[in-house]
Amino acid sequence: MSTAAMTEAGKKPLDLAWVREQFPSLKLEVNGHPAAFLDAPAGTQVSKRVMDAMRDYLLNANANTCGAFLTSQRTDAIIAEAREAMGDFLNCNAEEISFGQNMTTITFALARAIGREMKAGDEIVVTTLDHDANVAPWRALEEKGVVIRQVDIHEEDCTLDIEDLKRKITEKTRLVAVGYASNLAGTINPVGEITKLAQAAGALMFIDAVHYAPHGAIDVKALDCDFLACSPYKFFGPHMGTLYGKKEHLLRFRPYKVRPAPDTLPDRWETGTQVQEGIAGIGTAVEYFAELGRRCDPTAKTRREAILAAYRATHEHEMEMLEELIAGLLEVPGLTFYGIRDVKRFGERCSTVSVRLAKGTPTDAARFLGERGIFSWDGNFYALNLTERLGVQDKGGVLRIGLVHYNTRDEVRRLLAALREFAR
Ligand SMILES: Cc1ncc(COP(=O)(O)O)c(C=O)c1O
Repeated sequence: MSTAAMTEAGKKPLDLAWVREQFPSLKLEVNGHPAAFLDAPAGTQVSKRVMDAMRDYLLNANANTCGAFLTSQRTDAIIAEAREAMGDFLNCNAEEISFGQNMTTITFALARAIGREMKAGDEIVVTTLDHDANVAPWRALEEKGVVIRQVDIHEEDCTLDIEDLKRKITEKTRLVAVGYASNLAGTINPVGEITKLAQAAGALMFIDAVHYAPHGAIDVKALDCDFLACSPYKFFGPHMGTLYGKKEHLLRFRPYKVRPAPDTLPDRWETGTQVQEGIAGIGTAVEYFAELGRRCDPTAKTRREAILAAYRATHEHEMEMLEELIAGLLEVPGLTFYGIRDVKRFGERCSTVSVRLAKGTPTDAARFLGERGIFSWDGNFYALNLTERLGVQDKGGVLRIGLVHYNTRDEVRRLLAALREFAR
């Protein structure tokens, strides 16, 4: 939505000054330069309220769960509220949310539980575009004879080859594992359409939404996916992971768990004691988004509506920065760009871009930027299938720049100027 359209409807664009005040770490300086955090795809900065919630938890509520005393009761209440918040974030019931160490650990545990019901010859579809956390846990089932089929990409724009995906889904497919967005090229996959293809074949659909979550609203009910995992530390919360699963599946599949732990939801999927101060932070990270949304749209009535309003505003800001970023990058001499570059197709991508420069390695470029206070990532970011497919795995991978809503156009311009200097 354009700024004009938002104003017409009585809605306000992002208040970037307010946003940046919420994140104290953005004030960092490096060699006299203000830090530009363009490293978000590997983890975002955390708002002050999230830090306060984690500290308050440790100060006033630190105990294990389900005890008959004050701090344990507070712990239970905080976890219940965080689960409600994540339910609003993903549009599902709180009991369909479970917490865990990170998306990778959660996915390995889920794959083991689902895999114990699979037999030799059953098939799982994975993709070339995905982070290895949505490949290796499924590949691990090859040990019991499960066949992994990998969907190819269109190399020219780093999009999934949907015709190849249709070919790879067969009557033997038991599960399709696809990322919502690529953490290297920023491509957004048509996960709703892919869910329908999986369902038509009688297969389960697992979505890795780790990279998408900071950029776009997720609606698991509308997607109708069976499972979806994401990691709060990528959407301005603490280092943890969360899993959504349809209630019927969470009750039917059998997780590996200790006997005394409850067999009810969501406990049966949460092995051992959780990082409870982290869970306190997750609830507050969602609340941060909701408050941002209420500021952009004071008519938002529910937390879910406020979250959607926040994403409308953050998306608009991200797309404006992205347009300037890509236009500027394409003018840098000797630069190779991976992914969608046409502004008319921005609906198919988020604000994460990867490039290579003719001069130096991606590590050289990241170091050059880092010395100037500009934080970027180099390498494969565990999107190993993709760096191999693009032929850059043995050349240091790519340089990745990630924009999220707390970034500024000034930071984009500083980055472009520094890259032009590096490329000279
Ligand atoms: C797209 C994607 N999926 C999965 C992961 C793994 O997430 P976690 O660190 O929570 O295990 C990452 C981490 O970078 C990612 O970017």
